[in-house]
Amino acid sequence: MNKTNVEIHNSVREHYANLARSQNSCCGDSCGCANDIYTPDLITDIPEDVTGFTLGCGDTITLAKLQPGETVLDLGSGGGLDCFLAARQVGETGRVIGVDMTPAMLERARASALRLGIGNTEFRQGYIEDLPIADASVDVIISNCVINLSPDKPRVISEIYRVLKTGGRLAVSDTVTNRELPEQIRNDMQSWNQCGSGALTVDQYAEILLSSGFDGVHIAPKGSPTEIGADMPEGLIFSAEITARKP
Ligand SMILES: C[S@@+](CC[C@H](N)C(=O)[O-])C[C@H]1O[C@@H](n2cnc3c(N)ncnc32)[C@H](O)[C@@H]1O
Repeated sequence: MNKTNVEIHNSVREHYANLARSQNSCCGDSCGCANDIYTPDLITDIPEDVTGFTLGCGDTITLAKLQPGETVLDLGSGGGLDCFLAARQVGETGRVIGVDMTPAMLERARASALRLGIGNTEFRQGYIEDLPIADASVDVIISNCVINLSPDKPRVISEIYRVLKTGGRLAVSDTVTNRELPEQIRNDMQSWNQCGSGALTVDQYAEILLSSGFDGVHIAPKGSPTEIGADMPEGLIFSAEITARKP
């Protein structure tokens, strides 16, 4: 990547600030972005302007199997929908923290939390590469179509490891590829902003998780119980479900 990390953060932030100020709910063709990522029973009783503002690429809430009382951290919380869904599942004895670097997203999420009367959720400004979260304080980390946007994925994974409690788990939806993308595509900032050209290969993702100390690493195409299919066209960018555990 020829761009510096600061340039990538600035470009991504500007892209998502524009989306936060609009009503749009799609981050680009690579994300399976649309409200059909959640089953209707999961989003019931939440106003359409909140459920309609999702920029994610999978159902991390179902993937995470949240339990009452758990502390959940959402990396790149955007408009806050995943935090609100998580907040219902962990209940009054649990709590949810959303972290995002884009002030306009945080404003949108905080305004929705206030309007919906959700008290066990807070939104903090920060980078996922430098989380504003104490060591070993989180049971579950969720993230929906965000880690691909980071210019420093090993740093993000090491931060996830730092803030998780022993035995804590990771349940992430993210875009990945099955073959390293050509440099020309990786340098395309428009594609990067739209969850495309920042995608890691499945093997790179697994390697970073394992070398950071995680076990139980599992990466599967969205909605499929099988491993990554050998029959997929090479170089395809697709949504995957990624789970792992801090031993
Ligand atoms: C594709 S949107 C996903 C938002 C949300 N997870 C959802 O499912 O609707 C990406 C979000 O991640 C945030 N983001 C991207 N890179 C980030 C970084 N390095 N640190 C913190 N937030 C980041 C953006 O501001 C944006 O809100």
